[in-house]
Amino acid sequence: MKPSQGKSKSKSKPKAKKTKSASAKKSVKKSVKKAKPIKLKRRKPMTPKRRKPRKRPVKLRLPKGRARLSFKVTKPRNKDLILVLDFGSQYTQLIARRIRENKVFSRIVPYNITPEEIKKHNPKGLILSGGPLSVYDDNAPMPNPEIFKIGLPVLGICYGMQAIAHMMGGHVRKSREREYGRSELFVDSNKDLFANLPTNLTCWMSHSDHVTKLPKGFTVMAHTLNAPLAAITNRPKKIYGIQFHPEVVHTQRGTQILINFVCDICGCFPRWSMGRFVDATIKQVQERTGKKKIVLGLSGGVDSSVAAALISKAVGRNLTCILVDNGLLRKDEAAAVVRTFKDHFKLNLKVVDASQRFLNRLKNVTDPEQKRRIIGDEFVKVFQEAAKKIKGVAFLGQGTLYPDVIESVSPIGGPSATIKSHHNVGGLPKTMKLELIEPLRELFKDEVRVIGKQLGLPESLVHRQPFPGPGLAIRIIGDVTRERLDMLREADTRVMDEIKRAGLYQDVWQSFAVLLPIKTVGVMGDKRTYENVIAIRCVTSIDGMTADWVPLPPELLGRISNRIINEVEGVNRVVYDISSKPPSTIEWE
Ligand code: XMP
Repeated sequence: MKPSQGKSKSKSKPKAKKTKSASAKKSVKKSVKKAKPIKLKRRKPMTPKRRKPRKRPVKLRLPKGRARLSFKVTKPRNKDLILVLDFGSQYTQLIARRIRENKVFSRIVPYNITPEEIKKHNPKGLILSGGPLSVYDDNAPMPNPEIFKIGLPVLGICYGMQAIAHMMGGHVRKSREREYGRSELFVDSNKDLFANLPTNLTCWMSHSDHVTKLPKGFTVMAHTLNAPLAAITNRPKKIYGIQFHPEVVHTQRGTQILINFVCDICGCFPRWSMGRFVDATIKQVQERTGKKKIVLGLSGGVDSSVAAALISKAVGRNLTCILVDNGLLRKDEAAAVVRTFKDHFKLNLKVVDASQRFLNRLKNVTDPEQKRRIIGDEFVKVFQEAAKKIKGVAFLGQGTLYPDVIESVSPIGGPSATIKSHHNVGGLPKTMKLELIEPLRELFKDEVRVIGKQLGLPESLVHRQPFPGPGLAIRIIGDVTRERLDMLREADTRVMDEIKRAGLYQDVWQSFAVLLPIKTVGVMGDKRTYENVIAIRCVTSIDGMTADWVPLPPELLGRISNRIINEVEGVNRVVYDISSKPPSTIEWE
């Protein structure tokens, strides 16, 4: 049923009543003329049976331009949950995010989770993710067979489907041709998982194995030319398997397939929203902290800023934020944080100018890892000293995000292999005996940005490019001095300025300047110069784990170069970095 149908029905109700009563009056007049006895219709006796609740279509509010999605809902629940079992696919996080985007909460768990652990989460359904291995590999990850006996609906995607088929007596074979990219999917059964969808769909495949024999009790739901069993189901047991990836945008109506599973088959109610999350989190923080004090290291980055805004909304002046100015920040950065948080949000913010302490310890240090260690260590010291001055602190607030805490025991790596050590503002004060408050630990970065906007943080902060904890120290190759820091700050400001003016700031992952440890010869106003070189780095990336250099327009590169050479004293050459990650990294150190 289309979502609009319910609406039009309710609108037409009062009209229908009018016409009915009018015709009833006419028929009464007629009956008086002809003096015929009026036959009264006998009412049906009331049945003691409870009426089944009518399944009503729910309309989702979607951004313009997206296909309309529909689903049936039985009973509203507060926070229905779907667990995504991680078999190491690069798309696991995407599955979880797609479900959340459609207002159902989802959590990623290791592939070998036990039925007991699943029950503790109390989910409404399970999704088995894809993965890079073959079910016949020695170390192929397999789910605990008992999870299929809990009675929860299960959807296996790609490897997840092959694992289901393999465990339940089907056959999985290597295809002669690896199927990668777009494929035409022919839907053979337009029910449940494929409800509200056309019979031909473009889908995204990425596999070399495929299911060749159905397990007992399963039927085919869809096929492609290469994979005769591209979607299978054991309907009575609510177990489904699809060879393609519904979570990637290249799969046509992929989101509808996920919604069909999550809402229609598992019966989840789409209620999870950022607004509700904020309200619930504020309550939780209030209940947990009572009147005790919280301290939080604020760097001005998105994560710590949103965490600070959220916690302060819950506890007000009981939160004290500490901004450690390590002297390695960009131009005017500390002042901007003060303007936003102290002046505008009236947050309890203490700024500690520790730049000289950091510079002293970094003197003559050129090794990148040693720089990181020193900066992390000094940060903890400065932070602890400042925190000790606040009386009655019992909690440490942090902007830890979900990708930092996702567990994985997948033998082939899984997310754990790609998670970097968490470097919130340079290092964690582990020696402090404080309880952690991490209000964002269930959220992805884009979700945190939405909350930041809802809390009224400025756009420039919410969509800020990432900036490394060790700051400009790892963008000055070699010795870090105040003079070189100032030079880099001036060059960096000009890069940022021009990238923003070209409207590219939010399209790229990072754009910045690096100061090299060499001097080159130049000529300025007929005079020979022997000065520094600045390298420009501009990359696109999804998560910082891989990155591509951006082919910036030559005019823009020219403008950046001109401005730096003309306006920054001590620089006479600018070069552009055209290396991708891997094999290079984004930062130079
Ligand atoms: P790399 O250089 O490893 O950087 O390709 C990937 C992303 O991480 C950021 N980065 C850091 N962030 N502390 C941080 O907080 C660090 O030591 C650090 N090193 C790199 C980098 O800016 C990029 O976005």
